[in-house]
Amino acid sequence: MDQARAQEIADRWMMPTEESSYMGGLEKRPILASASGSTVVDTQGKEYLDFQSGQMGAALGHRHPRVMAAVRKATETFVHASNIMLNVPRLELHERLGRLLVPPLQKSLFLVTGSDTIEASVDLARKATGGLDILGLHDGLHGSTSYISRSLSFAWKRQQHASIAPGTSAILTPHCYQCPVASSFPKCEFLCLKASLELADANFTSRPAAVIAEPILSAGGVIVPPPGYFQAVRRACEERGMLLIFDEAQTGLGKTGHMFGFQHEGVVPDIMALSKHFGGGVPVSAVCTTAEIAKRAASSPRGLTRPTRCSAPPAWQASTPSWKKIWPDARPASSCG
Ligand SMILES: Cc1ncc(COP(=O)(O)O)c(C=O)c1O
Repeated sequence: MDQARAQEIADRWMMPTEESSYMGGLEKRPILASASGSTVVDTQGKEYLDFQSGQMGAALGHRHPRVMAAVRKATETFVHASNIMLNVPRLELHERLGRLLVPPLQKSLFLVTGSDTIEASVDLARKATGGLDILGLHDGLHGSTSYISRSLSFAWKRQQHASIAPGTSAILTPHCYQCPVASSFPKCEFLCLKASLELADANFTSRPAAVIAEPILSAGGVIVPPPGYFQAVRRACEERGMLLIFDEAQTGLGKTGHMFGFQHEGVVPDIMALSKHFGGGVPVSAVCTTAEIAKRAASSPRGLTRPTRCSAPPAWQASTPSWKKIWPDARPASSCG
């Protein structure tokens, strides 16, 4: 397919992408025909090295043989699973993931995208605490669904979106290189956090529910919070009855030298969101929490996020090779630090 034909289809049939977004003008870019390993090939046969590894969704490379074998095998049994009955691939993945998690994280829920996991994590935190307010770092990015995940994506100018979810607000990112409170670490003693919390306490519209953060801020500028920062956040959460959610979309599953990004700081979150290469390129994501929080949330009189009708056994089968290959002896990741 040549560029003229792509333009014709896009003009007539495709929902337009905003020119100002990073996806604007897609039809003017090379049109991909295939992908394998680290290479993508366009419709003119030109090869490119995929430095974005499928936006971090294909960290093992495209069509990794082990992932493909697992998907192929799964399609021999069934490809669609209703969410009103359990099935073997789903149960097996709950167990394998559960054994990989750092205790007390233990329970999981499978969804499809990273944005889904944020919606579900916030829902879980609100149901478990009975609170509403969620605080996110002001350079954080948590997804592109139109409500919660975009409302918490402060790095993406959330005011561009017409409706902002109530009870979502920002605290300052601990960006020591460009300190938001013109101080310096460690002399500052986390002044950015102290000032943010004082303001947040004054602004809360209801009972607070959670703080959400990426252990290393990704799209917001690859910002590594200073040592001890998340321990201070953890203490602040405990003082306010809030839960701590880590979005490990970009840091999880071996990408930073530990199985999970939070292990660098030794702070285990109450809720963890996993996506991106969790499915080795196949869309599947997970929300993980403790047995106690899961029980508390499930006993809430209001319904809890559940797996969708689009749950797919091949995606669950593809998941395990996606992290076993990176970390072949993946065992319970019981240690931090
Ligand atoms: C840290 C983080 N969280 C969540 C998301 C949303 O993931 P998805 O595009 O799968 O919805 C992204 C996407 O880039 C991300 O980088």
